[in-house]
Amino acid sequence: MQPVRAIRYVTPLREGGSLPGLMEADDLGTYVVKFRGAGQGPKALVAEVICAGLAAGLDLRVPRWTPVEVPVELAPGEPDEEVQALLRASAGLNLGVDFLPGALDVGPMPAVDAALAGRIVWFDALVGNRDRSWRNPNMLLWHRQLHLIDHGAALTFHHAWGPRGLDDHVARFAAAPYAVADHALVECAPDVPGAAAAARAVDWDALVAEAVAAVPGEWLDEGMGDGEAARAAYRRFLLARLAARTTWEPALVSSVARGAARDARGRRVPERTSAGPPEWLGELRIGPRGSEGEGGS
Ligand SMILES: Nc1ncnc2c1ncn2[C@@H]1O[C@H](COP(=O)(O)OP(=O)(O)O)[C@@H](O)[C@H]1O
Ligand SMILES: [Mg+2]
Repeated sequence: MQPVRAIRYVTPLREGGSLPGLMEADDLGTYVVKFRGAGQGPKALVAEVICAGLAAGLDLRVPRWTPVEVPVELAPGEPDEEVQALLRASAGLNLGVDFLPGALDVGPMPAVDAALAGRIVWFDALVGNRDRSWRNPNMLLWHRQLHLIDHGAALTFHHAWGPRGLDDHVARFAAAPYAVADHALVECAPDVPGAAAAARAVDWDALVAEAVAAVPGEWLDEGMGDGEAARAAYRRFLLARLAARTTWEPALVSSVARGAARDARGRRVPERTSAGPPEWLGELRIGPRGSEGEGGS
């Protein structure tokens, strides 16, 4: 994909630790830029891109992404020293995610339709995403539709991988149970069997290949020897995870049925305090295609 060039750093988006920044680019686009020089390094960007590609298989919405070239000349003009250091460490290709203006971060335990919740939970289990807890749902509501963001902490296997011991590492990731008790949607009665059935109709070989091929080569040099070996390893881990579905799916279905984590007194954590979106959005229940009344106004 042809990169765009960042021309102005607008503001940091202080939420998690990765310090994404809002930037304008020379295509007149405004992007949430996730920086290669941030704490997790380029692997977080690889996880974002691969997960965005795989989400499409389950009809889940993820904001469009584009590689963003950050020129080194932008750093000195930045008054905030932390941002200046981040820009300097990130000269080169970074991840630009389409900024969704006016999007609302969904709060803990939103009211999401069971079918959509099931697809999201199944997807998070596939990629081992730990960053969709009720504390930090990483979902945006935009034009009344749910968009998934922030997949940099998925695919954790790549933080400790290498050519040695690869078979064992693949086997462990493939069969690992997914800890769903803290998931932001666990109280929405997620229809995981329905999602699993829908996933069986997907050509995952093609989708995995496409998602991995989309990763810019510049982010792929670590751990596996070279970029092509890294791409092959990503495909291998993901296809093994898909092939091992019969190991982790039944456990996922039963954990979802048990519901949210409980505290020492047996109370659900968290107690549902707000039913989701603010009052001014009206009685919104987020439906199967991400909104109520798809195709309406
Ligand atoms: N594409 C986007 N459009 C609008 N706001 C966004 C977008 N991506 C992220 N944000 C906002 O920035 C915050 C931080 O982004 P996120 O990707 O979750 O990074 P991190 O949690 O690693 O800092 C989000 O909670 C959200 O408020
Ligand atoms: Mg986040």
